[in-house]
Amino acid sequence: MIIASNFKTNYTRKSARAFIEAVQQFIHTTHSTQEVRIYTPATALDSFDANTLLRVGAQNFYPVQNGSFTGEIGFEQLEEFHINTVLIGHSERRHILKETQAFIAQKFNFAKEKAIEIVYCVGEPREIREKGIDAVMAYLWEQLEGIDIGYTHLIVAYEPVWAIGTGLTASNSDIEEVMARLQAKLDSPLLYGGSVKVENIKDILSIPHCSGVLVGTASWDIKAFCTMIQSADQLEQ
Ligand code: PGA
Repeated sequence: MIIASNFKTNYTRKSARAFIEAVQQFIHTTHSTQEVRIYTPATALDSFDANTLLRVGAQNFYPVQNGSFTGEIGFEQLEEFHINTVLIGHSERRHILKETQAFIAQKFNFAKEKAIEIVYCVGEPREIREKGIDAVMAYLWEQLEGIDIGYTHLIVAYEPVWAIGTGLTASNSDIEEVMARLQAKLDSPLLYGGSVKVENIKDILSIPHCSGVLVGTASWDIKAFCTMIQSADQLEQ
């Protein structure tokens, strides 16, 4: 399963390295078979030991190799550290940073050209959820507009906006329904994200079509994150 941590705007270069090394150690000593991803802030990207199941990825990039885009990082800056997994379409970038679907598709196509893993996030706001499952699915398909859903290295993360960072999770039956409908059209692995924590990870990973989780808040505690990796291992035993 894929157990991914999104650091968002947390951790420094030094503390991120300590976290990553501790997780690597945990994976090594427990012989975990999970595919772990850690999306650090750009300033904490570095060359990490590639001989483990853990991959460090980028939360964002500007869809250019390099150029004049003050304050942005291009792909050259990711390649320096052999970054081969990125988040695209996260709700905070869609809603707070105002990324449009056209721009998100541009980023997707750029990353696809580079043949790297893309964790592509979709999720509906509360007012859409209140309209029912058909409205939710219509909204999610719009968020996949311009995206090659047949891309080999695509992973889709379903993250209801109202569940992110709020402590509220979608009910298991809601998640199951969305995942079943997504999987009917998508071959890619599906992740769930939105207030995943130690207490609910096993239930969530047991949902049909759920291949993993993308965790924010609860993953920032090293012990909790390792416990979540362990929970996935236990489920697979
Ligand atoms: P959360 O964030 O776990 O804090 O809800 C999830 C995410 O934004 O990917």
